[in-house]
Amino acid sequence: MSILRRIVVIGRKSQVRDIAQEVAHEVFAADDLAEAADIVNTVTPDMTIFDDTFTPDRIREFLRTTDNDPSRRPVSVAAVAEETPFSNCEYENAGVSHCLRGLSEHRRLHEIALRVAAPEQDRRGDSGDSACFVNDIAAASGMVGRSEAVRSTLELIRLVAQSRCNPILVTGETGTGKELAAKAIHTIRHEDGPFVAVNCAALTANLLESELFGHIRGSFTGADRDKVGLLEYAGEGTLFLDEISEMPLDLQAKLLRVLQERTFRKVGGVKDLPCQATIIASSNRNLRKEVDERRFRQDLYYRLNICPIEIAPLRSCERREDIRLLAEYFLRTSNICNHGRRRVSAITPLALEALQRHDWPGNVRELRNVIERAMLLESTDRIGLRSIVIETTQAEAMPGAPVSRRTRDFSLEKAERELIARALHETGWQKTQAASLLGITRATLYAKVKQYNIQKQKPQLDGIELTGCRPLEPEPVAVG
Ligand SMILES: Nc1ncnc2c1ncn2[C@@H]1O[C@H](COP(=O)(O)OP(=O)(O)OP(=O)(O)O)[C@@H](O)[C@H]1O
Ligand SMILES: [Mg+2]
Repeated sequence: MSILRRIVVIGRKSQVRDIAQEVAHEVFAADDLAEAADIVNTVTPDMTIFDDTFTPDRIREFLRTTDNDPSRRPVSVAAVAEETPFSNCEYENAGVSHCLRGLSEHRRLHEIALRVAAPEQDRRGDSGDSACFVNDIAAASGMVGRSEAVRSTLELIRLVAQSRCNPILVTGETGTGKELAAKAIHTIRHEDGPFVAVNCAALTANLLESELFGHIRGSFTGADRDKVGLLEYAGEGTLFLDEISEMPLDLQAKLLRVLQERTFRKVGGVKDLPCQATIIASSNRNLRKEVDERRFRQDLYYRLNICPIEIAPLRSCERREDIRLLAEYFLRTSNICNHGRRRVSAITPLALEALQRHDWPGNVRELRNVIERAMLLESTDRIGLRSIVIETTQAEAMPGAPVSRRTRDFSLEKAERELIARALHETGWQKTQAASLLGITRATLYAKVKQYNIQKQKPQLDGIELTGCRPLEPEPVAVG
């Protein structure tokens, strides 16, 4: 559950980093104080955590040199070993607000993060945030949306999480929030256990196998010591298998065995180890189709597909109403701009309309990027149409697409260009015919084609035509 946006963990203790991962959206790790100072000055975290590598004196010196704006001071926590040569008092005198001793106390980080988050939201004027979330589960997992689609997804998440369903499959297009859904399930089902994620597309078959199951020393060249796999590491928490469709077929067979037997063996091992974790798999491909095309095992598909949670794309009519809510939420919560800059605090109606019209193939992730880019480009305190830069999808760019979905501005020149391109497209680039369709001479048509640099369309990749990597023309009227 991401309670905070950014935490910087200073020191090499992996346990501290792991707990930070559970409470923050982004965790930045620094091995030493010099690296930490650079990170803290760049990312403005909500919290910094020191492990016991650092004495109270060094922490005091660090806080003194990085603390140049008291109103944005991150909360500092010392997460140290049970026994250190220094007392809690000494850490606190050095400027840390909490001193957590030993792993059991490190768990209090959740509670501290919640306390840090509340005043932080008040300070940013986020009192409207509660209106973005349908219920506590949504708020705890940061899932913004009030549409019917989000409500029914959350209800299904609750039902599945409270059942004994294991494994759980989450599907949906890229950027729809599958990982958020997985974290919401984890939050409900396992208050304390770890949430361990692995992207099945990011590793080679052999690496993925040893990541998942672990290995015994000497089981293959390079295995110079025993390795604990993610299944074991997840313990009684959650193992999130992202992009399961990309898992190699022979590993799929091994995973199926784990799901059926609830035991596994390390690579090169002989002992069966119990698997107690909840396994959540996600896919943005249609697994049924993958089975038909023999890229995914049918038996594994049926094993996973007990009560699938499908997340609707942002463009679906049941979810479109969330676009505005999400855009305003990202505007309020993003800190992409330097704090010295004027705060962009609203979106003009025209800009909102442009957001509503787009098809969002990259879903919520794409929307977030568009808003953050607009915040950087915008020079006033409201995001206007000219700062909204969107990649046009093929459907939107098609000459035959309805005008209301295609145009983002009201420029006559643009309309003329589109009309000419459409006439040429429909006549298969027969210029005489196109000119007569348009009611202009061939010479005028030639001149316009040159003026607007209209070219025959090339085949497009993945349905995306990159036309929008620059700001659109200025907004013609000031509205809102
Ligand atoms: N409902 C939502 N409210 C707020 N933020 C969201 C929502 N859905 C997604 N996001 C944000 O969008 C980004 C993508 O979400 P996430 O990683 O969960 O998507 P995904 O479906 O797993 O994508 P992919 O298939 O590409 O892995 C994240 O930054 C996430 O915080
Ligand atoms: Mg994902």
